[in-house]
Amino acid sequence: MDLKQLNAFIAIADLRSFSAAATTTGLSQPTLSRLLKQLETDMGVVLVDRYHRPLHLTAAGVFFYDKISAVLTELETITSMTQRLSTPSTVLNIGFVPSVLYGLLPEIIATLKLHNANQNTDLEVNLKDISSYQQVDALKTGEIDVGFGRFAHQDPWIQQILLRHERYVVALPKAHPLAHVGEQRLIDLANNRLILYHQTHLPAHSTTISAEQIQTAQMDSTISESKFKLNNKSNVTNTNLANSVTEPLLYLFAQYGIAPLMTSKVSDLQVALGLVAAGEGITLVPASLQTVRTDQISYQRLVHENVTSPIYLHTLKDFVHPKVPDLLNAIYQVYEKRGITYRQQQFV
Ligand code: BEZ
Repeated sequence: MDLKQLNAFIAIADLRSFSAAATTTGLSQPTLSRLLKQLETDMGVVLVDRYHRPLHLTAAGVFFYDKISAVLTELETITSMTQRLSTPSTVLNIGFVPSVLYGLLPEIIATLKLHNANQNTDLEVNLKDISSYQQVDALKTGEIDVGFGRFAHQDPWIQQILLRHERYVVALPKAHPLAHVGEQRLIDLANNRLILYHQTHLPAHSTTISAEQIQTAQMDSTISESKFKLNNKSNVTNTNLANSVTEPLLYLFAQYGIAPLMTSKVSDLQVALGLVAAGEGITLVPASLQTVRTDQISYQRLVHENVTSPIYLHTLKDFVHPKVPDLLNAIYQVYEKRGITYRQQQFV
């Protein structure tokens, strides 16, 4: 078994056609057919059923495809990591989710650059706007060296440091009756339309939940006739309710046993704030967003201390870019300058 045979099998399995696979791989059809046959002979297994069009994988072929594509992806990651080890480390590619750009990211980059200038070392920083999920692949392929996001990743190749928890604030239209209430409670917000904007959901929790709790949690994108549901019977019930909710903003409400009366879902944070500005509803955003559209939006604190959004720094486990320790120091320097509470962490 060799890499050429495996790549030929993957191309045929992906495209279900020898001719399409020949076009994408640049190999002739007889060559692809020979490579596949050699692989099957080596293994003593038929992987592709050639008598149907489009081609079908046999049950053994489906199993082999799933496992071997994961191995080939790992091989690519290892190759790209090895190549990076021999390239100069003066370029640092940073991926970020948009919500961190409104906060401290520019100041952190400026601090890092100043440190490098003082040390007389070269540094070129490239910033790339990449969603939390895409950061995992971007780290593996080498598109980015470090990523800032708001979700922890469960991936054997990725490690992360929790930098801090940032408090959420409520964004209300300026004309809203609560717009001047300095400290808001979630319960007082629950009969407004809540605008949801996260594209990434929290991992489902394992707690067993009842059908009624699922129904309460599934108010996404619907206008309910009923009044919002407040469930303060017991903390246990509230925990169960929260565990059934994976939409990040609904989860914050569900922690207090609350399901908002109405929700709308939009594609991103900017659109959500645009709708708030237009008087279409309210939303919750990390505190660093409260400089956006201040003519039309009033941002108010929440009384609840645990209504927060984490900020993570992600890197590959086996390859930490040599400039990452400087980046981490720059972050902590900015936190100290601004009096932000944090717990210093290091990669192990
Ligand atoms: C922060 O706001 O804590 C932060 C933002 C961007 C990168 C790192 C940290």
